[in-house]
Amino acid sequence: MELYQVLEERRSIRKYLPDPVPAATVQKILDAARIAPSWSNLQCWRFIVVRSREKREQLAAALAGGNPAAKAVAEAPVVIVACADPKASGDHDGKAYYLLDTGLALQQLILAAHAEGLGTCWVAWFDEAKARAVCNVPPEYRVVALTPLGVPERRPSPRPRKALAEIAFAEEWGKPLP
Ligand SMILES: Cc1cc2nc3c(=O)[nH]c(=O)nc-3n(C[C@H](O)[C@H](O)[C@H](O)COP(=O)(O)O)c2cc1C
Repeated sequence: MELYQVLEERRSIRKYLPDPVPAATVQKILDAARIAPSWSNLQCWRFIVVRSREKREQLAAALAGGNPAAKAVAEAPVVIVACADPKASGDHDGKAYYLLDTGLALQQLILAAHAEGLGTCWVAWFDEAKARAVCNVPPEYRVVALTPLGVPERRPSPRPRKALAEIAFAEEWGKPLP
């Protein structure tokens, strides 16, 4: 699938079919995350592939009350949990690069999943201590985000985005692009 098609089509999927996701496909999309760039190439990220229903339900219970992705986390056949060691990344001017490293690696995984016909949904609003306990994540690692992974029940239409003129400037802040 062409890159721009993937970028345009990807949506957050919160309803999944029970169809299994082959281990080879999971490895393929993990590889897309593995090759992401990172601060000093330190690759601070680690990914946990959760298939057990019991653990998926426990992860869903770790999502903050009212999180619209809770059902998806319990029901998708796979959940990928993205963790990172902040000490294996940079920290400059209060900017913790482990979040950038892990965010873009997870986004590469998410785009690769779409290219494989699978749905995902970024989830970052959860009780980290609970998610940590479910997956036995060591204390030096943060649990950054997770995503359900599976065959989408349907493909929702795109959500609105700001116009380019609102978010992109020429040469200096506020100056419109030609
Ligand atoms: C860093 C981040 C955290 C997010 N956390 C959640 C979450 O906890 N629960 C959820 O349902 N969606 C979450 N989302 C998904 C956004 O709501 C979604 O990307 C946004 O509404 C745009 O919709 P789209 O992804 O379908 O284009 C998160 C997205 C990002 C980038």
